[in-house]
Amino acid sequence: MINSKWFQDSVVYQIYPMSFQDSNNDGIGDLNGIAQRLPYLKKLGIDVIWLNPIYKSPNKDNGYDIADYQNINPEYGTLADFDNLLKAIHQHGMKLLMDLVVNHTSDQHDWFKKSAQSRNNEYADYYIWRDPVAGREPNNWRAAFGGSAWTYVHERDQYYLHLFAPGQPDLNWENPTVRQSVFNIERFWLDKGVDGFRMDVINLISKPAGLPNVQGTPTVGKTFEIVADGHRLNEFLKQMNDEVLSHYDVMTVGEMPGSTPEDAIKYTGLQSHELNMVFQFEHVSLSPNPDTRLDKWNDKPIKLVELKRALNHWQKELDGQGWNSLYWNNHDQPRAVSRFGNDDPQYRVRAAKMLGVTLHLMQGTPFVFEGEELGMTNVHFTKLEQYEDLESINAYHELVEEKGLVEGSTMLKYLANVSRDNARTPMQWSAKVNAGFSQVKPWYAVNPNYQEINAAAELADNTSVFYFYQKLIQLRHDHEIIRYGTFVELDPQDNEVYAYKRNYKGKTILVMSNFTDKSVNRDYGIKQENKLLISNYTDDQGTKLRPYEAKAYLFE
Ligand code: GLC
Ligand code: CA
Repeated sequence: MINSKWFQDSVVYQIYPMSFQDSNNDGIGDLNGIAQRLPYLKKLGIDVIWLNPIYKSPNKDNGYDIADYQNINPEYGTLADFDNLLKAIHQHGMKLLMDLVVNHTSDQHDWFKKSAQSRNNEYADYYIWRDPVAGREPNNWRAAFGGSAWTYVHERDQYYLHLFAPGQPDLNWENPTVRQSVFNIERFWLDKGVDGFRMDVINLISKPAGLPNVQGTPTVGKTFEIVADGHRLNEFLKQMNDEVLSHYDVMTVGEMPGSTPEDAIKYTGLQSHELNMVFQFEHVSLSPNPDTRLDKWNDKPIKLVELKRALNHWQKELDGQGWNSLYWNNHDQPRAVSRFGNDDPQYRVRAAKMLGVTLHLMQGTPFVFEGEELGMTNVHFTKLEQYEDLESINAYHELVEEKGLVEGSTMLKYLANVSRDNARTPMQWSAKVNAGFSQVKPWYAVNPNYQEINAAAELADNTSVFYFYQKLIQLRHDHEIIRYGTFVELDPQDNEVYAYKRNYKGKTILVMSNFTDKSVNRDYGIKQENKLLISNYTDDQGTKLRPYEAKAYLFE
């Protein structure tokens, strides 16, 4: 059996600092705002907080373009504010994960500014520079936020690689000095007392030898396939662990687009000493457009059988071998209840709770994204001007205007469905002005439904999504079987109900969730003596599952 570690026993809460709580009324969330809300997180039962990047950044990609890893973005506060926040988190008995973005920096980082000046200076080899080929880009790779993955710099008469925006140049991990610089950044934060890292796109750091062209029509997807899980990734992660992480008691999560359970076992295997767990993308990549040129932009609902296949597969493969992270949404994904449940006011609360049951009773470490515990929804924007995220805006310009692949009105529907901006509207604290996020106009629009959906209202209502999540978290803390039990899938072909069992030390938990707005009947052999652990309806009708009904029983 696995030796339990705190990373396996924890529930993590993700904070998008810009949109969480503004404390000084400039419209932007900040560190002191987070500090004010710690009692709220404690009440929910959270063990660990993960902060999206708070370092100095020109914010072209909202902090994922870092200009100084050892300073706080002034909009969020100062290093002293950070120290106070960390102390307060620890005093509340919680831990803190920082976001480590080291596949790339900002083009405003000193390393890059120097690197771009000439081919021979101390930083010349910190990034991935290549000569032009026949006067053009060195290869056909495409960047995640549109266009070529290469940008030309006159001073060096060379191109640099950026898998994301041009303002996000990729670091050259082949250079041992770059690796030492990254390790020093890690030590800086760990020595302050932070409890671990969420590592941004960490499976992209080792580029394939020779940077070969992608075959056929180049797309972002194919570029990432060629780059992900490069031949030196294990070596780099092991070195990081040997030299830094193993000297601290930390939790690490690697964001790994495109990774399979086999990859995850390599990197996070309980014996492998690289990372504790990965964020995999299978279940959040389920409804790509059938026209691959349109990539993730689509408005089709997800089929439950596919969702089950994706999640069950990870549950089964990693059992006893590695450890899962469990998440429905984050700052890069639409809101869970809108995407996987139903955000119609008639069903929203029920569906949000149903999703909570489905995910929180699996094996792994659950991550709750700010507002998910309130059942916050997509914002349902209808105009391009309402978007802020470079991914959405660039995609609209490229697919509608430059390439003419899709009608503007259709693309707006796609954006409303899957844009990252759905996750980035301010946290809904109360029915007061600007949802209690700020006294002044927030940096980004508040979802107009904040009058109905907000923390103050939910804290005053013991049937709210908030208290339901509180109960789910408490159950996990109380029951070893929820944390470590083996997962057994039930009826994978059932397109209406998500059911599974967990087994541990002679006990069993049965979980069943109706993903539809109809009543259905399912007989899983429940008896009078089986204990109902949790349900999102007040009465139990046995084999009948009402719209979005979810419940779990303990068989002892
Ligand atoms: C990750 C982040 C995302 C960011 C990208 C580039 O996927 O979660 O927000 O845009 O990496 O850093
Ligand atoms: Ca502020």
